[in-house]
Amino acid sequence: MLDAGKTETLLEVNNIEVIYNHVILVLKGVSLNVPKGGITALLGGNGAGKTTTLKAISNLLHSERGEVTKGSILYRGEKVQSLDPSALVKKGVIQVMEGRHCFEHLTVEENLLTGAYTRTDKGQVAVDLDMVYTYFPRLKERRRSQAGYTSGGEQQMCAIGRALMSKPETILLDEPSMGLAPQLVEQIFEIVKAVNEKEGVTFLLAEQNTNVALRYAHYGYILESGRVVMDGPAKELRENPDVKEFYLGMSDEGRKSFRDVRSYRRRKRWLA
Ligand SMILES: Nc1ncnc2c1ncn2[C@@H]1O[C@H](COP(=O)(O)OP(=O)(O)O)[C@@H](O)[C@H]1O
Ligand SMILES: [Mg+2]
Repeated sequence: MLDAGKTETLLEVNNIEVIYNHVILVLKGVSLNVPKGGITALLGGNGAGKTTTLKAISNLLHSERGEVTKGSILYRGEKVQSLDPSALVKKGVIQVMEGRHCFEHLTVEENLLTGAYTRTDKGQVAVDLDMVYTYFPRLKERRRSQAGYTSGGEQQMCAIGRALMSKPETILLDEPSMGLAPQLVEQIFEIVKAVNEKEGVTFLLAEQNTNVALRYAHYGYILESGRVVMDGPAKELRENPDVKEFYLGMSDEGRKSFRDVRSYRRRKRWLA
């Protein structure tokens, strides 16, 4: 699906800074490119700035007293920083928030249908509901259940399914693995992959679970303390010794800062 060299950049984040409460500088110049048709992973530990980056893109920082104070965000070459989230949905970009927000009192199917509210082609909605049920057979079984009473995995599926109902070009998916058992995480990533390949939906995926994300993504950015410390094709990142050591749990020293390690390695080389 993703053909390197011929790909068009959909989303471009250029050197953004984000400040919360006028004083707390959280993103310190983050840049990234999301090519059409790809799965791009935004990786990093808890507090690295992944959610802040996604919220900056979909202009959801105001309610958090956060603000983009520097840099620019372009979608198809057009500035989107000041668009409200529903205008962004009309452009084809939708965010699935961390913590899989469903309307708890609505049924699974009602939740899915709310995803289609901005659409004008109402006739297509039934077809797309079927499409969502093909990807998520579990949701079809549970379609009459109140969302609040479904499992964490089903709620995550419901949140992704609802996003699909807006017929997006790009989905910003925040931490889909959070709180889910490994087998379910794998299932959800398999579905993300299928949607990417068969529907051509582009993903920007924030994940702490580096291991899983790098197996499904095409390209990854590693964030630490609000800065991109490394980026590259997923395959290269998976094989990178520092990434292996610090993000793929192949070290016995535990997880130090990625930047510490790199300077440590540099020092070692220097002294050798
Ligand atoms: N509303 C907020 N006000 C102040 N600081 C915040 C707010 N939201 C997040 N932060 C801080 O910003 C940093 C990045 O958070 P976040 O983007 O949620 O990281 P991640 O999603 O990678 O875990 C953290 O240090 C967090 O404490
Ligand atoms: Mg987060």
